[in-house]
Amino acid sequence: MAFFSKLYIDRYRGIKALKIDELKGVNLVVGDNNCGKTSVLEAIQLLRTSGNLANVYRVSRQRDSIAVSNANSIFDNFICMFPRDREGACEISISGICNDKAISFDLKGKKDRVMLDTKELSVRKLQFSDIPSGEIEADTFDGEIRLVYGDQEKVNRISVNQYSSVTGTPSSDKNSFSIVYVAPFEHLRGSVVNQILKNESYKQICVKALQLFDLEIEDIMIFKSDIGNRPVEFIRHKILGDMPISSYGDGIKKVLALANAIAQAADGILLIDEVETAIHKKYFDDILRFIVKACKTFKVQVFITTHSIEAIDGLLATQDYDEQDVSDDICVCTIKRASDASYSRVLSGREVYENREAFGFEVRL
Ligand SMILES: Nc1ncnc2c1ncn2[C@@H]1O[C@H](COP(=O)(O)OP(=O)(O)OP(=O)(O)O)[C@@H](O)[C@H]1O
Ligand SMILES: [Mg+2]
Repeated sequence: MAFFSKLYIDRYRGIKALKIDELKGVNLVVGDNNCGKTSVLEAIQLLRTSGNLANVYRVSRQRDSIAVSNANSIFDNFICMFPRDREGACEISISGICNDKAISFDLKGKKDRVMLDTKELSVRKLQFSDIPSGEIEADTFDGEIRLVYGDQEKVNRISVNQYSSVTGTPSSDKNSFSIVYVAPFEHLRGSVVNQILKNESYKQICVKALQLFDLEIEDIMIFKSDIGNRPVEFIRHKILGDMPISSYGDGIKKVLALANAIAQAADGILLIDEVETAIHKKYFDDILRFIVKACKTFKVQVFITTHSIEAIDGLLATQDYDEQDVSDDICVCTIKRASDASYSRVLSGREVYENREAFGFEVRL
């Protein structure tokens, strides 16, 4: 089981000196468009990169990953993670306390423009581009990643340039916990039931959740397709028969994607970006209750971003705030963007609930 009790984002993208001292089982990150909510979820992932550059690249490309064409180069995505502020330093610094141990990720270095010999570039890169052979001018970054978790420290020197390919595959420490990120449009990627099907009783609970949308849904399953023996995810329906999940609406796909990610994040951390996308607000209370309960069952600490006040109220409704002295498992962090950086305010779920009851407090501002 992994549990972050504190999170500090000293410098990452537009975020400066963000401090959350009392993280809970359910943590909401709210605020205006463009204030830095997704950046907070990325920063948490950087804490689990094992010092591996491929993992850092993966985080840097996440917000670009649904774009098929016009996707930025690896180097551009990487460089865009460093704060662009007056200080101008190429420095990312994120830390926290996880399972009572100090955890931190620091990435520091220097950007430069130097002459490179094309012989140093990968063969594949040269085959698929029109780079002339010989000496070329290129943007470069040289620096180091320093990762600390408890008494373990890893320092990796890194050197990348604008023609770099991803070196190595993203990896995870076997002894470590998982962090699962659910993008706002995760449900469009497919593969949303494989983890659910591993646990029969959880599958039954997920089918019940789908029955909120359509009472005739009976089961979910994976079949091998006739073409190429590919696995295809199906929903069994009393009237429609078996149909691929792709024939159903986005709300159903989104609920499955979330439920699947919870099972995948078991004993670890789940990051849900824009929990409300694709779901009609009339289902929020039921679906959010399902998410909070499933996270508890799978021992998952969850970070949720949302724009929706109904979703915030739905999450607050999962706690018994009308009873005094009951524990509070929600923390709400509001991010506000100022001209030089984003700043934050942290409240407990109970404080937000009581202020919303008293005067309709707008916690997103
Ligand atoms: N390297 C950087 N340096 C400074 N600011 C940056 C950097 N990269 C991104 N930003 C700023 O961060 C903001 C975007 O952050 P992010 O995508 O996390 O916002 P968000 O709250 O998730 O927005 P939305 O709700 O629209 O998804 C923008 O204002 C952008 O200018
Ligand atoms: Mg966002």
